[in-house]
Amino acid sequence: MPILPLGIPPDLEKFFFNRERELKELKTFLNALYENVSQQILITGYRGVGKTYLLKKLLNDLPDDILTVYIDISKIYGIQKGKLTEELILRNLLSSMNSSIKEIDTGTIKKSYSAVKNVLGGLKLKKYNFKAAGRILGISIPEVEDDYEKLSHFVMELPQRIVESSDEKIKGFVIVIDEFQLIGQLENPDAFFWMIRSYTQEQGRVSYIFTGSTSKMSEIVEKINGAQGAFGGRMIQFNVEPFSEEKTKSYLQEKVSGIKFSDDGFRRFYECTRGIPAYLNSFCNTMSEEGTYNGEKVKKTFFEKMDQIAVMWIRIWGTLSENEKEILTSIVEGGPLSWSELERQVTFSKGTLAKYLDVLKNKGVISLYPVERKYTIEDIMLKTWLKHRNEIDGYYPP
Ligand SMILES: Nc1ncnc2c1ncn2[C@@H]1O[C@H](COP(=O)(O)OP(=O)(O)OP(=O)(O)O)[C@@H](O)[C@H]1O
Ligand SMILES: [Mg+2]
Repeated sequence: MPILPLGIPPDLEKFFFNRERELKELKTFLNALYENVSQQILITGYRGVGKTYLLKKLLNDLPDDILTVYIDISKIYGIQKGKLTEELILRNLLSSMNSSIKEIDTGTIKKSYSAVKNVLGGLKLKKYNFKAAGRILGISIPEVEDDYEKLSHFVMELPQRIVESSDEKIKGFVIVIDEFQLIGQLENPDAFFWMIRSYTQEQGRVSYIFTGSTSKMSEIVEKINGAQGAFGGRMIQFNVEPFSEEKTKSYLQEKVSGIKFSDDGFRRFYECTRGIPAYLNSFCNTMSEEGTYNGEKVKKTFFEKMDQIAVMWIRIWGTLSENEKEILTSIVEGGPLSWSELERQVTFSKGTLAKYLDVLKNKGVISLYPVERKYTIEDIMLKTWLKHRNEIDGYYPP
């Protein structure tokens, strides 16, 4: 049985396939940093399509004179058990920025590394008491508890100042914010996006890349880059597509050449996985190198091994609240549902329904058809898995 990774493998190069065009395009955008021009980029795409892997590979490929920062909002959200704040995001950014300068040995940067480390310690204890330090790289540091304005100013100015103070050693900063759709969980996501926008406008050496599991037409994408959104269409928008049939064939050939398909078997396999690498990998891991997979055998394996193939959703399902699960099973039962249909279905109040619909949208689990105003499950694999469990067990997974 082949073993393909179900997450991002520590050895990035070993399992990474293709995406040459995407990497080339992204590198071209980022190269503008050398000319003191910063591009802001928004990367969308289905869950499991390979956004995170692509970005980790991109950061890894960048030359040493470009510093990189990667933060994952879902990790912060998870640790805080769903209570996300601006301050937490900023603190995480600051800490990752600081790690990225750790190895740089110019005097000024070295000094600021230790100074920022002190600031971080204080932020954790909520003791913003750095009157003695005053400024780092010319940026004033937050002194009092909940001095959000100063904290944001400090964090947002830091990367540009680091480049400027590096004696030409560093040419730019690339900051990746993964699972950014969860920023929708802040009380005021618009204000947060506008805050970032206000700094990026004047910084030619810092590029932000926002990415997450959200469709290119979702509300959160509107908020950040729509006509009325903070970046008002100025962000470069980039959708990561699943592998085409051709690419899927070469992927299988390269990574798991022992699995044999008939033409009809391959077609079925592509239908089930839709070329999404997460499913290609989890499906292949259930297959054997003996015999040939025809359509019938692929279908049989798909249903028999569904728990393994849909493992990505089983993990997410485990993190959802009872209310979120009830909304999802209602949608699975009744097909796409409008707000009023949902309200009749669920056993809790309107207010609770509104709240959890938002949460599910921000998690990239459901989406709203804009014209029909109906809620639908974002990924058919989740729907198929839930239906399948209900058919077999007589109830939806707890
Ligand atoms: N270019 C690729 N080559 C080989 N494997 C890939 C590639 N892209 C993604 N994968 C595999 O697919 C799975 C999902 O990738 P990844 O986590 O990057 O997706 P994602 O789009 O970030 O998903 P999510 O929206 O859930 O965060 C991983 O197991 C990864 O190893
Ligand atoms: Mg990801």
